[in-house]
Amino acid sequence: MSRRIGWVSKPVRSPLHGEIIVPGDKSISHRAIMLAALAEGTSTIEGFLEGEDTRATAAIFSAMGVEVETPSVSRRIVHGVGLHGLAKPLTTLDCRNAGTAMRLLVGLLAGQQFDTVLTGDVSLSRRPMRRVIDPLRAMGARIEAEAGDLPPLHVGGNASLRGVTSTPPVASAQVKSALLFAGLYADGETEVREIRPTRDYTERMLARFGWPVTFEPGKTRLSGGHRLHATDVVVPTDFSSAAFFIVAATLVPGSQILLRAVGLNPRRTGLLQALRLMGADIRQINARDQGGERVADLDVRHAPLRGIRVPHELVADMIDEFPILFVAAAAAEGITTISEAAELRVKESDRIAVMASGLRRLGIAVEERPDGVVIHGAPMRGGAVDSAGDHRCAMSFAVGGLIARAAVQIDDCANVATSFPSFVELATTSGFALSSSVD
Ligand code: S3P
Repeated sequence: MSRRIGWVSKPVRSPLHGEIIVPGDKSISHRAIMLAALAEGTSTIEGFLEGEDTRATAAIFSAMGVEVETPSVSRRIVHGVGLHGLAKPLTTLDCRNAGTAMRLLVGLLAGQQFDTVLTGDVSLSRRPMRRVIDPLRAMGARIEAEAGDLPPLHVGGNASLRGVTSTPPVASAQVKSALLFAGLYADGETEVREIRPTRDYTERMLARFGWPVTFEPGKTRLSGGHRLHATDVVVPTDFSSAAFFIVAATLVPGSQILLRAVGLNPRRTGLLQALRLMGADIRQINARDQGGERVADLDVRHAPLRGIRVPHELVADMIDEFPILFVAAAAAEGITTISEAAELRVKESDRIAVMASGLRRLGIAVEERPDGVVIHGAPMRGGAVDSAGDHRCAMSFAVGGLIARAAVQIDDCANVATSFPSFVELATTSGFALSSSVD
């Protein structure tokens, strides 16, 4: 049995201050391991996220014969084996809580000469896989799932993959990336058209590793039969981790926080636009390029927020930031409406249900809809909430505790280690009154 970790986040009387560097980007860390493993030669990854999700991906490649060294924290040296050099693993491949690992890997493994089985933890075993299985089968992949298209996934080797043009019905970087990974092994051209553009890290990183790929927002094309060449990757910090501090500094009167070198890929920063529409004071300083990704320092100062109708075109660009936006909306003056965000129901938890129920326990009126919520901003009271084992919900409730009238107790927070193991430490340093206990 894993230990049950709970947090208590108490209201603070002093402003939040200081400079913070959050850990490396989760999406990019996964992809860096995958492409470095399939490349010819040795790649170095700097700024790798030391989270459970990304370590699970590294362990999976070790199990397929790739030597992955850890010379120091947040650094990996990956001795690539080439596109066809992976070895059949002796056991099932455990993605643990990582949806990105499972969905990207099913595409990559569909192109191997050997059979594999992908498993995950209880939460991942409930997440929909049909979205990757159907288009991969259309490319010739042989994939079997449990009833309801759920994990474990059995991926048959020796499939002859052929490139197709695919328009997945959900806007998902994971689905797009699964198809692109399969496309590396396919005959002919694979084209993915998206109903809304999503994060383009796979495309950018393929280009960095020397694979010919053409992409523009919403459309990516590549052909099979090339090679990946080792390169060095610098992983920018994770905007999704920075988001908790951006909202915390916005909500606590008198606060000013400087977040250093935050990854600002435009397909990730919808939250900045939403918060600015609500009245937030967030300035970008020293914008620069770091390893092909845009980064900048963010100077965030307290500002009163007002409710908004979140524009639909921002939803995909802030898909991981809704739990923290829910907290910002609860603290805002007036009503915030979120719709066309049904995807939130199939993340690490049903984030609409988990956040709505937690906020109600803190005295906030929340109307739940199938694809979103209506949140009535009001002073938050203290109380006990359940993060349902979802890292982003746990960290969002911790931010809520800063401005509640009494302490917020948050149950089931261990999952924060998947994306942000140093959260409690960094939060405490910047002025949160956050403590953790183990049952
Ligand atoms: C991710 C894509 C998004 C996001 C997830 C990471 C990625 O998922 O929510 O945290 O790295 O490609 P979807 O593709 O399901 O939207």
